[in-house]
Amino acid sequence: MTEPICKVADIIYVRFELTEFEEQKKYFDHFGLMLAYEDENSIFFRGSGTAPYAYVATKGKENKYIGTAYKANEYSDLEALSKEFNVDIIENTEPGGGHKVTVIDPDGIEVEVCHGMTPAEPVAVVSKVLNTGQSKQRENELQRFGKAADEWQVEGDKWVYKLKSNVKRLGHTAINCRDAKASVDWYSRVLGFLVSDDVLGPDGNSIGAFMRCDQGDKPVDHHTLNNIQLPGDNYPGPYGHSGYEVTDSVDDLMAGHYHMKTIDEYYHEWGVGRHLLGSQMYDYWRDTHGFTHEHWTDGDLLDASIPENKASFRDVVMAQYGPTPPITFGVTLPVDQIDKVRAEQPTLPDLIKEMEIAAKKEA
Ligand SMILES: [Fe+2]
Repeated sequence: MTEPICKVADIIYVRFELTEFEEQKKYFDHFGLMLAYEDENSIFFRGSGTAPYAYVATKGKENKYIGTAYKANEYSDLEALSKEFNVDIIENTEPGGGHKVTVIDPDGIEVEVCHGMTPAEPVAVVSKVLNTGQSKQRENELQRFGKAADEWQVEGDKWVYKLKSNVKRLGHTAINCRDAKASVDWYSRVLGFLVSDDVLGPDGNSIGAFMRCDQGDKPVDHHTLNNIQLPGDNYPGPYGHSGYEVTDSVDDLMAGHYHMKTIDEYYHEWGVGRHLLGSQMYDYWRDTHGFTHEHWTDGDLLDASIPENKASFRDVVMAQYGPTPPITFGVTLPVDQIDKVRAEQPTLPDLIKEMEIAAKKEA
């Protein structure tokens, strides 16, 4: 393979345009992101880690996903991108500073590559010690989360669980592409991404990939990007979801699940379960603008020596365990259309079941 233009180190943030901010601020307060900075035209949210922000939205006429930002290893990576795409290196005037280059991927997604951002002060979080059947590490210490059972409060006529997830960082985005091969090739060539899983459709052709950063012998997240070409002729738009890693482990994720569930204000998309590709425990929630955001924990870490794996759409949809996803999963829709679409169309597992039955008949 020819050398890529650069090899990015990690993802930093996602960028959106929104028509309003108050609903989004409310959603992220429940979801477990912290407001890092705001002014009249922009809102920035961060996790407990060192990224100055993990989500930024600017005020505009539409609710739309603009793109994703990645961290460059060296300033020379910005120079290489600038030369290749004939774009300027600009000073980043947003929180964190540094410099960046913005290029456009084959689906029109803005890809920002940043260097020299000043890290934020991480928020201290005490990790819980878990006892398992095989390993007992916690003795004479009771396992308590937040205010324990007092986290349950009666609000109006319902019980609400008050403890929320603590997001640490943005870990990946999932995007819908018009041409899977073009997208996978572009991210390999331009940002140096490696394919962790090549996802094959029923006809054996690739319908996308789970891609990770190439940091040599340093293990990185199994996927920083998931690009999928959904079946059908109607391109649903580029945004699938953003995956945010929670700070502690499964209890941090489950607290957020019960908080989001009991406040009963947002659409639940999928979870809680354990993915096959990447192995994370996951839980997906949709905001009021129709964009889906994931809490995840306990993902696989791979270094560059691990070869590409061949996977199927079944491996994406049918998790190791957990509920199956609705047909709306992975597609950005106005929330007033969700119930109708879910009622009228078969579920994703039903579609896969039909494909498998058809394949058996053919065999
Ligand atoms: Fe995800």
